[in-house]
Parts: sequence; C-alpha cells; structure tokens
Amino acid sequence: MKLLVVRTAALLVGLAVSCSSDFAPPTIDINLDDDPRVRWLPIFKAFDSDFLKKAAQEVIDSTIPKWLHQVLRALVKASEKFILPKPYGEEIRGMAPHIGASLSDIILLNFAYEATAFCTSIVAQDKAGNLYHGRNLDYPHSVLRNLTVNVIFRKNGKISYIGTTFAGYVGLWTGQSPYKFTVSGDQRDKGHWWDFWKNMFSAFMLKRSPVSWLVRETLEEAEDFEDAALRLSKIPIITGVYYIVAGARAGEGIVITRDRTGPADIWPLNPLQGGWFRVETNFDHWRPAPAKDHRREAAEKAMNATGQEHINMYSLYQVLSLSPVCNSITVYTTIMSAASPEKYTTLVRPPDCHVTN
Ligand SMILES: *[C@@H]1O[C@H](CO)[C@@H](O)[C@H](O)[C@H]1NC(C)=O
Ligand SMILES: *[C@@H]1O[C@H](CO)[C@@H](O)[C@H](O)[C@H]1NC(C)=O
Repeated sequence: MKLLVVRTAALLVGLAVSCSSDFAPPTIDINLDDDPRVRWLPIFKAFDSDFLKKAAQEVIDSTIPKWLHQVLRALVKASEKFILPKPYGEEIRGMAPHIGASLSDIILLNFAYEATAFCTSIVAQDKAGNLYHGRNLDYPHSVLRNLTVNVIFRKNGKISYIGTTFAGYVGLWTGQSPYKFTVSGDQRDKGHWWDFWKNMFSAFMLKRSPVSWLVRETLEEAEDFEDAALRLSKIPIITGVYYIVAGARAGEGIVITRDRTGPADIWPLNPLQGGWFRVETNFDHWRPAPAKDHRREAAEKAMNATGQEHINMYSLYQVLSLSPVCNSITVYTTIMSAASPEKYTTLVRPPDCHVTN
C-alpha cells in the first residue's frame, strides 16, 4: 500500500503542470487492535519530538489568543477526565508525553484546527460512472506542511481505512474506506471564534463529537456510502461543517451542509440533469460566495472547461492546483476514488505552488 501511495504521488507530480516542489508526506501504519494509548507511537518514528513540540506551540500560539489560552488551560485541566471521550481521548492522552507538551495543550491543539480550516472539496462522476473526490486543505500555518501525514488504519492486519491528518491530531478531515466511500470535511463559517470555543465546551457536556472525530468514526464503522451519508447527516457535532462524500458506484456523491444538530441541506450529484460534479468551499452552495472569495467560481469554471469526458484523478488534481483554488495557505491536496483505493494520493503544496492563469 505504502509503495503504491508513493508511486501514484510521483505520477501525479510528473503530470501536473503546477510545480516540482510538491511532495508526498510520510505514511504511517496505526494498528487499531493496539491499546489507544500506544496506538500512535509510530508517529514518533516519522516525526522528531522536538519539532512536534515546537510546531504544536506555534499552532496554539497563533490560533488561540494568550489570555484565552490561560483560561482554556485552566478549564481543560479542571475537566481533563471528563472531556476526553474514548477512544480518541485515550489516543490524545497517550501521545501527550511524547510530544512533550502539557496534556491540556495537546487537547487544545486537537480543537484548534477545527476552528480555522478553509478548504475546497470537489466530487465528480465521469461518463463511465466512475467517481472522483478531491480536496484542498487550506490553513494559515505553514508549519502544518511538515506535520502532514497519511495514516493507514489497520484492523486484524487488514486496511480498515486511510486518512490524511497532522501529527498529533487524531481526527480526520480527509479519508477513504476502501471500496466503500471517501469523505472530506470543509469548515462552515460559524461567526465569531469565541462562539466556537463556547460551543466546544458546551458540546462536550452534551457529548457531541468534534466534526473530524465523526469523520473517523464513520470511516471506521459505516457499511457503505448510504450508511456513511446518513451518519454524517444526523449525528450531533460541535460546529457546523460541510461533509463531502463519494461512494464506489455511479450516482454516489453528495455535499451535506451540517448544523450542529442535523442536516441543513443535502446536495447530491445529479448526472442525468447535468449535475456531474459538486464544488464546496466554505459557503452554503445555495448562497453566493463573498465577493472577495473566488475559489468556488474558479473551480466550477475549471470543471466546466475540463468536461465530464475528461475528468479523472489527474485532471481533478489540476483543477485543485489552479489559483486561487490552490493558494498561499493551501497545505495539501488529496485525490481519491473509493473504487480504486490504491490511488489515494496526498501531496503537500508549497506556498507559491499553483498555476496562475
Ligand atoms: C519544513 O521542512 C523543510 C525541509 O525539511 C524545511 O526546509 C522547512 O523550513 C520546514 N518548514 C517549516 C515551516 O517548518
Ligand atoms: C458551469 O456550467 C454550468 C452548466 O452549463 C453553468 O450553469 C455554470 O454557470 C457554469 N459555471 C461557471 C462558473 O462557469
């Protein structure tokens, strides 16, 4: 699997007109049969602990204002046991001593990402009924480029699911359940950042999942596309989000607009009526995007120009490489197709790496 991932990545770089400094992140194996507390230890073979500690601090410092950090730290400390649901809480607890930061900081880190991730996701179907799913993850911290990691989650020695995340972060914004479905999450604007943290703490009291934990749980448990779409629509979560899901069979593609308690909108592919792709950035699809943000329009225009007869892993990657779809804060691009799980590819994008047109 690992070899295949790397080889496909090289192929994509060769074909893409974008730039030669894209690189494939490391790939690690996590064994779900291991105790959650030791499960993530392979990450410390792929990443230097000192670097992880510094990077974690940088993300926290630039995401959370200092005064708030102190308050949150005290709050997390007081409720450490309470707010760490199993098994992901156990995983975080197990990683903390190895990163060398305090447990409360690692907990905060696992939520800091949730607050400010911008993204573009595209699901598309070709003329033969094959599905392709691509995503850019945009986040204003260049250190994340060096924290990006592909993770192969195994159960009984077999691949259970694959995802892309950041070292130290147990949730998934991007993942694939082989031969079943692929999923990506895009942040949905939810107003002031303070509301986010308020939601986070109240949500724990209500035992709601962080959006990236629900992605992982769904990858682990859902039987098929339909089951995944249902879970991602209904299960209560901490904040609003867009879930983009593609299956392994023709017609299986959907953008789910989430409120905290349930679906706000369901937007499926509709290939027979010309709806052979869906582009989701960070705005409700039925509303115009803000005048300053041209990612949606640029991606749709590029998809139209590509055409259904020419869409594939490579052309989708190129659409996701166009400026401003790919921009100075794009951390990585993933291209996947549930029916061809060996083609799962993530490439880290350098800050200046996009095609200008
Ligand atoms: C990431 O790693 C590369 C090469 O290992 C290094 O040149 C670069 O400075 C690092 N970037 C950050 C933000 O740490
Ligand atoms: C893409 O094509 C569709 C169908 O022809 C059209 O409705 C839409 O406006 C086009 N989008 C852009 C951004 O050009």
